[in-house]
Amino acid sequence: MLRRQLLLGAASLATGVVAGLAPSAPALAQQQTVKVGFIAAMTGPQASSGRQMLQGIRLYQALNGDTVAGKKIEVIVRDDTGVADQTRRIAQELIVNEKVAFISGFSLTPLALAVAPVITQSKTPAIIMTAGTSIITAQSPYFARVSFTLPQQTMPMAEWAAKNGVKTAVTLVTDYGPGLDSEKAFAEKFTELGGKVLAQLRAPLANPEFAPFLQRAADAKPDAIFLFVPGTQAGPLMRQVVDRGLTKSGVKIIGPGDITEDEQLVSMDDSVLGVLTSHFYSAAHGSDANKRFVAEFRKANNNQRPNFFAVGGWDGMHAIYEALRKTNGETDGDKIMGALRGLEWDSPRGRMSIDPQTRDVVQDVYIRRVERRDGELYNIEFDVVRQVKDPYRK
Ligand code: PHB
Repeated sequence: MLRRQLLLGAASLATGVVAGLAPSAPALAQQQTVKVGFIAAMTGPQASSGRQMLQGIRLYQALNGDTVAGKKIEVIVRDDTGVADQTRRIAQELIVNEKVAFISGFSLTPLALAVAPVITQSKTPAIIMTAGTSIITAQSPYFARVSFTLPQQTMPMAEWAAKNGVKTAVTLVTDYGPGLDSEKAFAEKFTELGGKVLAQLRAPLANPEFAPFLQRAADAKPDAIFLFVPGTQAGPLMRQVVDRGLTKSGVKIIGPGDITEDEQLVSMDDSVLGVLTSHFYSAAHGSDANKRFVAEFRKANNNQRPNFFAVGGWDGMHAIYEALRKTNGETDGDKIMGALRGLEWDSPRGRMSIDPQTRDVVQDVYIRRVERRDGELYNIEFDVVRQVKDPYRK
């Protein structure tokens, strides 16, 4: 491959010289570089998700090199501040002016949805590293997801609760795509197994004030309160849960793992011990691949703990590298999507794949409990549901 490229390079140089039209250095570099646009919230309330995804991407490149199939992979980072109009505008700019072969990132569902028409029209593969609403991947054939979907993460918790003595629950979710998905998935599975949902509460995404909602949830006296907020709001949510004494009141606090996201979990206190979640990633996952990932991430980032956003960035980069390896470095959008379909690998999270039909992520979902380990709070996995697909897009 390398030899062929060298030969081709030499041949075009030679003919260029003969014709007096030697390709300029930037033009040559262009042919040998694959640009990957990364668009996420790097500032504003969602900034921790953008930062962690990018740290995952950077680590992947640091440990695996920045060249694949003879092409140098250049990541172009853009901050959409969490505003969908910005995401769309930046995606257009990156595709038209920078000629990126991929876009990636997406801290929130509306930001991913905003680029669907742009990527469809330009046939640009887009790798979703965070956004988790079920329908996103149905909005363009050029989406592939390596993060999670809320129904995929939620149903195992609903099932575990119903089978472990929880008879009644109140749900409190953030009032937008992923929250509504988790509310629906929880109610569906929990009631199917005989549980009763006493109330369904929704808090706004912007500047949420959780206290009044938590009060109403507690007043209903359920066996469990099921919570979903985007991972960036885990700290403020759990502080309110603790401040209202809910973790000590006998009611079970349950949810998808967004509410005990690893980075913010470090600064919570022992009041959150015992919080139960179902999720695809814990920094405490015991595999060798994850131990190495966590150790290298800490080393590269001032001993900071990686969370599920970071693993999304890591795996997104892996998917891009593997797709390019399969196409021999060709960046045609349809060829790349063909290469992404059915791709399967060992991630720090465990075995995962991209479903060939839906282009959505298939992975193990673990049941975890917050425990103290080596002096720090972690989500400790104690049960697992293998290779879960999004239940709404099978
Ligand atoms: C989303 O907006 O889809 C989203 C963001 C953060 C999460 C989960 C879902 O933790």
